[in-house]
Amino acid sequence: MPVHPSATLPVLETARVRLRDHRADDLGAMRQVWGDAAGMRHLSTGVMDDSRIRHRLDEAVATATEVPRRHYQLAACLQGDDRPVGGIRLDVEDDVTGYSGVFTMARHLRGSGCAPEIGWLMLKLAFAELGLTRVWSMASLENTDAVRAITRFGFTPTGETERYFAEADVTMRLVTMEVTADTWRSMPVPATPGPA
Ligand SMILES: CC(C)(COP(=O)(O)OP(=O)(O)OC[C@H]1O[C@@H](n2cnc3c(N)ncnc32)[C@H](O)[C@@H]1OP(=O)(O)O)[C@@H](O)C(=O)NCCC(=O)NCCS
Repeated sequence: MPVHPSATLPVLETARVRLRDHRADDLGAMRQVWGDAAGMRHLSTGVMDDSRIRHRLDEAVATATEVPRRHYQLAACLQGDDRPVGGIRLDVEDDVTGYSGVFTMARHLRGSGCAPEIGWLMLKLAFAELGLTRVWSMASLENTDAVRAITRFGFTPTGETERYFAEADVTMRLVTMEVTADTWRSMPVPATPGPA
């Protein structure tokens, strides 16, 4: 029986990273992530200037209080530091399906092993907290690093498609991927925070 999404975000953390809701004052930190032209070149949003980052943060804050909640644009923070170093999005499409996208991390943390934990936590939200059974995603065919990173936390490629994205005014060839709740449950659980 699917659980109806409530507005409150459950605790989503591993020993290393924590997902939290965005705040308007995340602008400076997210500029290092969403404002990084090279890092964002394969994303359907394209690189974001300050006004687009502000708009996305405002949207994240506004949709976080909707009940039932359908949009989770989440900030990823390292434990012990409240400044976001990345982000990931989960949209609830129907009672069983979620879509995840805009998965990005600050350049200095790539290859640190944080990305699979951020992905695992997003799937924990989808499957363990919201009762979804399937999450799908897309990545540019050219973004082979991201496809590899996303398959590390359980996604399997399901096909290819072409889409136009108005936000960046770009048409992209994409790999579609999905992961089921059963696959996620069979995956290793990241280390959890120790006692304070
Ligand atoms: C997508 C993204 C979040 C993935 O993060 P990431 O850190 O690069 O991904 P991974 O954790 O898979 O690590 C990348 C590499 O570091 C290596 N690595 C992972 N953990 C490591 C660790 N603890 N120590 C050393 N190396 C490590 C991985 O083996 C991998 O190497 P490989 O691809 O040559 O096998 C990040 O690359 C990013 O922000 N990209 C730009 C935005 C983007 O394109 N997003 C995708 C949208 S669909």
